[in-house]
Amino acid sequence: MPTIHWKLADGQTISADVMLGLNLMQGATNAAVPGIDGECGGCLSCATCHVYVDDSWIDRTGSAGDNESAMLDIVTAPRKATSRLSCQITASAALEGLVVHVPAQ
Ligand code: FES
Repeated sequence: MPTIHWKLADGQTISADVMLGLNLMQGATNAAVPGIDGECGGCLSCATCHVYVDDSWIDRTGSAGDNESAMLDIVTAPRKATSRLSCQITASAALEGLVVHVPAQ
């Protein structure tokens, strides 16, 4: 179970273990991370699970696919090169210690 760290815009960090196979939106909502709502349940239709993957981790998470990228065009917060919809990132052992940043908006 990798430990994931969500860094909030106010400087707080919430860390939680996420079961292998769950996506990071599910991990965030289980850990009550503010700003990650996951309104569509992870079916890629709401974009309320937007995060910025820490620069040092983007090689391991990979970038957004085509459908995810289209949804990222409608996010409220500014889109960055490291933007991902966290419902599309699956917890794996390779992501132990992953840091993601939660947008302020
Ligand atoms: Fe809706 Fe990720 S939870 S797009």
